[in-house]
Amino acid sequence: MKVTIIGLGYVGITTAVGLSEIGHDVLGYDIDIKRVKELKKGNSPIFEPGLDELLKNNIQSGRLDFTTSPEEAIHHGDIIFICTGTPSREDGSADLTQVEGAAKTVAKYINGYKLIVEKSTVPVKTAQWIERTMKLYLKKHTEFEVASNPEFLKEGDAIRDFLKPDRIVIGVNSSKAKRMLKELYKPIKAPIVVTDINTAEIIKHASNAFLAMKISFINMISDLCEATGADVELVAKAMGMDKRIGKQFLRAGIGYGGSCFPKDVKALYYVGSQYGLNFELLKNVHEINESRIDVLMSHLKKALWNLKDKNIAIWGLSFKPNTDDIREAPSLKVIKRVLQEGGNLTLYDPVATDNMKRVYPENEHIKYANDMYEALKDKEALVVLTEWDIFKQADLEKVRDLMLTPIIIDGRNIYNSKKLKKLGFEYYPMGRPA
Ligand code: UDX
Repeated sequence: MKVTIIGLGYVGITTAVGLSEIGHDVLGYDIDIKRVKELKKGNSPIFEPGLDELLKNNIQSGRLDFTTSPEEAIHHGDIIFICTGTPSREDGSADLTQVEGAAKTVAKYINGYKLIVEKSTVPVKTAQWIERTMKLYLKKHTEFEVASNPEFLKEGDAIRDFLKPDRIVIGVNSSKAKRMLKELYKPIKAPIVVTDINTAEIIKHASNAFLAMKISFINMISDLCEATGADVELVAKAMGMDKRIGKQFLRAGIGYGGSCFPKDVKALYYVGSQYGLNFELLKNVHEINESRIDVLMSHLKKALWNLKDKNIAIWGLSFKPNTDDIREAPSLKVIKRVLQEGGNLTLYDPVATDNMKRVYPENEHIKYANDMYEALKDKEALVVLTEWDIFKQADLEKVRDLMLTPIIIDGRNIYNSKKLKKLGFEYYPMGRPA
């Protein structure tokens, strides 16, 4: 089938590559000339395992191409996916101007029936706005429909999530739209849930808010464990053995970040309030997540007393492993707080360093290391903020010997307390006895 993707960010690129991989003829469109130029050469602007190879293969096979021409883009696809950004506004609501802009582009260049599919995470009723925008800006009567097909792509696992999803959600108003989207996803073996459009939009927001709630719930319990000397890892393990609860997303620590959870929790809270509903639960989810930084900072101060002029290393800058994405990463907040208190930082991450340098360029208080061990030389504490495998597998004797004082503040609970104690470390995990 002929498909157009509007907006070539994480979701747009993954969707373009995924749909071409299952045999469709895909054209990706973005206004960013540099981005499109690089993509045409097979260079992805995002780090995503497996993506580069599939991108190159599908360009070579002729099933995938990119353009900055809106006319070419809209003429190409019978199905047009809107994958533009939906960032948070100051009040927590989603800023939908890019989605509106995409709808206006479709209205301007439409040349026959199009199925416009929103894939970006949007508040319920956005499809109605897209439809209204189309009608307002259409120059002559042309048939079109709007549908919702939310993405559930985890960064770092996005390709696998696309090709082997737990479920595909399709929100449609007509049997034609349903038929087209079912046909599109035919090569993918996964249950398809067909709903009305409002329901599909809510499924996405509710899924992300629920996962964020699970994380904040275990972090709330983590605080209780810390106050009483209990172990949150064991609490989570035993809770997760109950199939009704499930073991995933019960890892306590420095909290959730990324481009989805923080934004979606706020946006869904805002939607609930707009309808006069009590969505305070989501406010608490957000507040518990924010307070993780206070907990980690209290551990750091318990270990180092004053932070002024102390030399501290941070391992892990991305919001989670296997991505270079630092959006809403806990590291941003921790770095800010340590600098405010007069500490000196040396930062290391396997892939996110360049992104962080754009936010915090090197200066006399902030340095970047090229090697995880080099970052530790003469440091008074190591703070772990992302659970990359290389950190889990670190040579801890080497770590100890490099540091001035062997103190580890572990925001992701990746080490074994007993082992660290035996090696002579002072260890501060989250919600577990030290
Ligand atoms: C999420 C959703 O999982 C995905 O379905 C959606 O479409 C986009 O948002 P993503 O943001 O890529 O994906 O990452 P995810 O793996 O869900 O983790 C989000 C955050 O939660 C990370 O910061 C992670 O470190 C944190 N997390 C996750 C925890 O703190 N504890 C956990 O147990 C799980």
